[in-house]
Amino acid sequence: MTEDALYRPVSWRDGRLRLLDQTLLPNRVEYREIASLDAAVEAISSMRVRGAPAIGIAAAYALAAIARDGGRGAVEEAAPTLAATRPTAVNLRWAVDRVLARVIEAASSADVAGIALDEARRIHEEQREADARMAADGASLLDQGSALLTHCNTGPLATGGRGTALAVVIEAHRRGLVSDVFVDETRPRLQGAHLTTWELAQHGIPHRLIADSAAASIMARGAVSAVFTGADRIAHNGDTANKIGTYSLAVVAGHHEVPFYIVAPTSTIDPQSAGGGAIAIEQRDEAEVLTVGNEALTPDGTRALNPAFDVTPASLITAIVTELGVLRPPYLDSISEALTGSVATA
Ligand code: MRU
Repeated sequence: MTEDALYRPVSWRDGRLRLLDQTLLPNRVEYREIASLDAAVEAISSMRVRGAPAIGIAAAYALAAIARDGGRGAVEEAAPTLAATRPTAVNLRWAVDRVLARVIEAASSADVAGIALDEARRIHEEQREADARMAADGASLLDQGSALLTHCNTGPLATGGRGTALAVVIEAHRRGLVSDVFVDETRPRLQGAHLTTWELAQHGIPHRLIADSAAASIMARGAVSAVFTGADRIAHNGDTANKIGTYSLAVVAGHHEVPFYIVAPTSTIDPQSAGGGAIAIEQRDEAEVLTVGNEALTPDGTRALNPAFDVTPASLITAIVTELGVLRPPYLDSISEALTGSVATA
């Protein structure tokens, strides 16, 4: 059974974008059809679809539907709105720009819908291929008996393919290399608790959920061989924006000399961001921190700060696994080489 045969987080079906509603997992598996710009914006911003590559693919299919219903002008109008829905994940802007560029260069407006859909399908297929390569290369970094720790959700739900960091965990498990999997619950949206545990269960992989703050003590007792996380945007120097809590995990991993790996396709690399300071960090609603489900955690009037992502400095990252190979420091060089196609390192 292939990974994406188990469930289809994002797909094009009967002329519409179809999403597995991730806000309902793990309790309900329900799909939603998205037929308008407003519905696509709502689905991405409320995180019915989430994960950097998956929101890019979803936006690309949404533009294909918009192209069919409203033509080139509607795509040109919708593109900036969609691209701005979640500002940190560079794959969103990248995918929207790809569809928009194809639509603009379309020879006749009659071609626009087909061309937009063709580009969306191409983006999705490239992600599937990239995921398969990253899973294999990432698993090759591991020895038998590896205890792995992961943060947020980076499985098929997050990419529409096999996933990034979680695809490495799944592949390493398939190869018989994994002794333990620790899953950070990932406050405040609990992607680890709600989504990663669900995906690992779908794949029959034993795992244990941990409070985010437990990672340090588990590493201190030597129980973690490597940490694998994804990325929402990688700057040209290797500084990496990912789900809030990734940075503290990398600091702790560095302190305990546990290898810290990022797994991300090259579409997540943004050479226009020279370093982490240039990456826009999405600030989300205070309610995500102040409540769990519909339950208030705090007295009325409590304020919260809710940055959705943080930036891990390149110096804390052991390697970045991409579909073009495993990039090592100094990242300015290895990223430049990967992006210009001159070298794929291993
Ligand atoms: O806010 P989310 O759930 O969209 O954040 C997702 C992450 O931070 C993932 O680690 C990242 O997008 C890479 S997933 C392949």
